[in-house]
Amino acid sequence: MSIDPSLYRQVLGHFPTGVTVVTATSADGTPIGFTIGSFTSVSLDPPLVGFLPMTDSARWKAIEATGSFCVNVLGHEQAELCWQFAKTSITEPFEGVEWQKSPITGSPILEGAIAWIDCTIEGVIDAGDHQFVMGRVVELEHAHPDLEPVPLLFYKGKVGRFHHE
Ligand SMILES: Cc1cc2nc3c(=O)[nH]c(=O)nc-3n(C[C@H](O)[C@H](O)[C@H](O)COP(=O)(O)O)c2cc1C
Repeated sequence: MSIDPSLYRQVLGHFPTGVTVVTATSADGTPIGFTIGSFTSVSLDPPLVGFLPMTDSARWKAIEATGSFCVNVLGHEQAELCWQFAKTSITEPFEGVEWQKSPITGSPILEGAIAWIDCTIEGVIDAGDHQFVMGRVVELEHAHPDLEPVPLLFYKGKVGRFHHE
């Protein structure tokens, strides 16, 4: 049975996700990062998380070569970063972005991210035109509750914010 690609995109677009920027630092010190919506928690014991990059993604290849990555969960005020780190036409996505190196892997932690999860690459599984990347969590932190962090959400091709009922 064949599935129409545009219907697949439309239907799957009805599933909302958070927005993350997955980062790493290359051997020559250059920061790398791209927008990822397919981030998920995987296991508590051992602590594992995952995401699915496209197999032909240049930025994923660059991140894979470092052996580690940091997942930055974007807050609702960071919509601009969502697009800045997704467009291949923007070759210097870190321009104008404040960041610091994570203590263990040295991957960029973006200023204003509401949470970050620093990982070493535990495994990579082929999954059609994507790969499933499993990361072992080595360190993680969230914004202070007093800051009342609100996540950025992605739904049907657009970004928005979360409201409690
Ligand atoms: C909200 C949002 C979520 C995204 N999620 C993913 C994802 O889970 N996997 C992926 O491969 N690309 C995802 N992308 C697209 C990548 O960010 C984009 O294709 C990538 O940065 C292009 O980099 P490249 O130069 O490595 O090809 C997403 C884009 C947006 C705007």
